[in-house]
Amino acid sequence: MTENFFTNELPRNLTDFLKEVNTLAVVCLQWGDTGKGKFVDLFADWADIIARGTGGDNAGHTICYGNKKYIFHIVPSGILYDFLGKKNVIGSGTVVNPRSLFFELETLKQDNLSYNNLMVALNSKLILPFHLVQDGLSEISAGKNKIGTTGRGIAWAYTDHYNRSGLIFNDLLNKDRFVEKIRANFALKKPYFSAHDPQLVKAILENDRLEGGIYWDEKEIFNLDAIIEKYLRYGEEFKPLIRDTDAFMRENVSKKKILLEGSQGLGLSIDYGTYPYVTSSDCSVYGLAKGVGLNYADIDLALGIIKGFYMTRVGEGPFPSELGGKLSDNWCNGTGISRHTEMDFFRKSNFQDNPDFVQGLKIRVEGDEYGATTGRPRRVGWLDLPFLRYALNFGVKDLISTKLDVLNDVDLIKVCNFYRYTGSPYVYGERTLLYGDILSETIMDINVLNNCSPIYAEFPGWKCSLENCQTYSDFPGELRDIVDYVSSKTISKIRILSTGADREKTIFI
Ligand code: IMP
Repeated sequence: MTENFFTNELPRNLTDFLKEVNTLAVVCLQWGDTGKGKFVDLFADWADIIARGTGGDNAGHTICYGNKKYIFHIVPSGILYDFLGKKNVIGSGTVVNPRSLFFELETLKQDNLSYNNLMVALNSKLILPFHLVQDGLSEISAGKNKIGTTGRGIAWAYTDHYNRSGLIFNDLLNKDRFVEKIRANFALKKPYFSAHDPQLVKAILENDRLEGGIYWDEKEIFNLDAIIEKYLRYGEEFKPLIRDTDAFMRENVSKKKILLEGSQGLGLSIDYGTYPYVTSSDCSVYGLAKGVGLNYADIDLALGIIKGFYMTRVGEGPFPSELGGKLSDNWCNGTGISRHTEMDFFRKSNFQDNPDFVQGLKIRVEGDEYGATTGRPRRVGWLDLPFLRYALNFGVKDLISTKLDVLNDVDLIKVCNFYRYTGSPYVYGERTLLYGDILSETIMDINVLNNCSPIYAEFPGWKCSLENCQTYSDFPGELRDIVDYVSSKTISKIRILSTGADREKTIFI
């Protein structure tokens, strides 16, 4: 580390804010991409230990460092503080692709940034090349019912864990054990791969993320020897990092300042999200605690992040307040639309009759709402309070509202306060939903969510820059009205407002 812009002095209001806290968790209460990176980075300055507990390299945490932007997919965002001796932990609940880890560490090396205090849980789950191919094949076979995954093999690595055939990171350190386990794992999967068009498997294997085809074998489908050789080399490289991190976390809880960094968001949680349009880990604060070897009760403060006052979603799945509805869904999930092509496509098409879609697109462009991992355009919609009320059932009451500056130019801001159920009669436990029923809290069942239309409260936009807002009272009245509305209509408290990527654009209330 040659130079840094960090000081050891924390902003006073941050120190006050965290004065009673030893273990802090930051999770997203929407579908991810709410700007966790900025906050994890800010709080990492306070913490001694920064730990991730769920997901894998499907996540993309963006951090601005000096004039450089880093996107970490698997390494915890506190890695930029390694030079201060802070420990970064990739916890036991994660799934780790050694190739992604390797490349992130290479980037750090190239920029003279250290990672001497990074630890990878010995029992984190190992992502194998098979998992990426399974991900690709299952999405192709699902056709229009696909999930829209990030293609990183996440679901399949977790599937192996639950079906008791998975490998763990520690296996990389024991050659015989590794070879035995990977052969057994492949034996289970071979019939599945054999049932697919070999050319399709070959095409997937030619992806850069699968080392450009070196794992393909004409006869056996996978060249196991090539995988074994490569993975054991990763094992040698990572040996100094592989640790019993669960024990480390238990030893340090309530003694050191610990920051738990959530991944994805509650709406994508396998247990609480819009199943099956979810990822395969529990992104709630409960899953996060477990995924680093701790208990929920160990957390002194859990902060939930929401965007102010909109939401985004990448991939398929219900989104009742989506601006432009089905058109937006098809547009964002269509092929060939990316940050670079979107405006071109847009100019050539005629959307005059769908102002909501146009509003969503403007927010996407203004908020730079394109996937950090895949570059896909994020679907955009208004803030959904039934969804937030539901999300607040899972261990979080204090909120951070981010990206408020994105709405600076919007004339009319809508907040969804209720849904109207518009489907046919549907039995949900002891309740039968009928057409026209009003719902104040999301029922997490896609048959319901796909048939809910939003009922909005409307607010005039503030129509000015937030550049000079340093305390809550500096904010325009129009914005404060919405903050008050959100807090009063949900049992929550917005504690922090964020008006931009820079640290100074963080207002504690
Ligand atoms: P997977 O996690 O790659 O299996 O993808 C499952 C779903 O989660 C898809 O809809 C993805 O777009 C979504 N997803 C996974 N990771 C992220 C993330 O970090 N941000 C937003 N969406 C994500």
